[in-house]
Amino acid sequence: MADKKGLQTLSVDIGGSGIKVMVLDEAGNPVTDRDRVETPQPAKPEPVIAAVVGLAKGKAFDRVSVGFPGVVKAGITKTAANLDPDWLDVDLASILAQQLGKPVQVINDADMQGLGAIAGQGVELVITLGTGMGGALFLNGKLVPNLEPGHHEFRKGSTYEQQLGNAALEEVGKRKWNDRLSKAIASLEHLFNYDALYIGGGNAKYITLDLPKNAKIVPNISGLLGGIALWREEKGVRREG
Ligand code: BGC
Repeated sequence: MADKKGLQTLSVDIGGSGIKVMVLDEAGNPVTDRDRVETPQPAKPEPVIAAVVGLAKGKAFDRVSVGFPGVVKAGITKTAANLDPDWLDVDLASILAQQLGKPVQVINDADMQGLGAIAGQGVELVITLGTGMGGALFLNGKLVPNLEPGHHEFRKGSTYEQQLGNAALEEVGKRKWNDRLSKAIASLEHLFNYDALYIGGGNAKYITLDLPKNAKIVPNISGLLGGIALWREEKGVRREG
């Protein structure tokens, strides 16, 4: 708890296939190992929330950051393409604050990943490649929340997520997926003219293409490490426990 290392943050990454947690100290260094459970199926609010509460059990922390795989406004979930339609308008921040008895902030998972990855200078774009495809945009470290490139049209009448999500990777294989990714990067660079692109998510490890100089792969752990920046800058809306 709050000792010489300061406040401890339980960082939670809710994904389409796994839910991961880790406790971070105030400097953002991990103080526990990463803990993971499979995302309950169907991924309805009640079992997913119970899984998060289960992972939190036995861990010492003072506050909670949650990355959620959908649009989140003021702690309330607005979409969840890869979880379940029941997530429309769930006040996840308040529910977790009540169940965990600690202050909670919830933001989009790619936004949280971005906070753990960016340098804080210029226009920085983050994309995440996992079950779905997420994105986050920053100007000099300031987040433009809830960018949703995954559901935006990419090519051949398909969205970025339809072409690059996990289902597509399994369907077409790594070589074709890499070809698509290279086209996607060209298209995103043309649209955003970013200074730097960061690519994260569980499937980033399958990237074999030569990335442009201004693009780099970030470790999947940044999805959890971003949980600390959230409290530094109060990017989300805090709900008291
Ligand atoms: C969701 C995004 C999310 C991404 C990665 C997409 O389907 O719409 O909000 O960031 O998946 O989880």
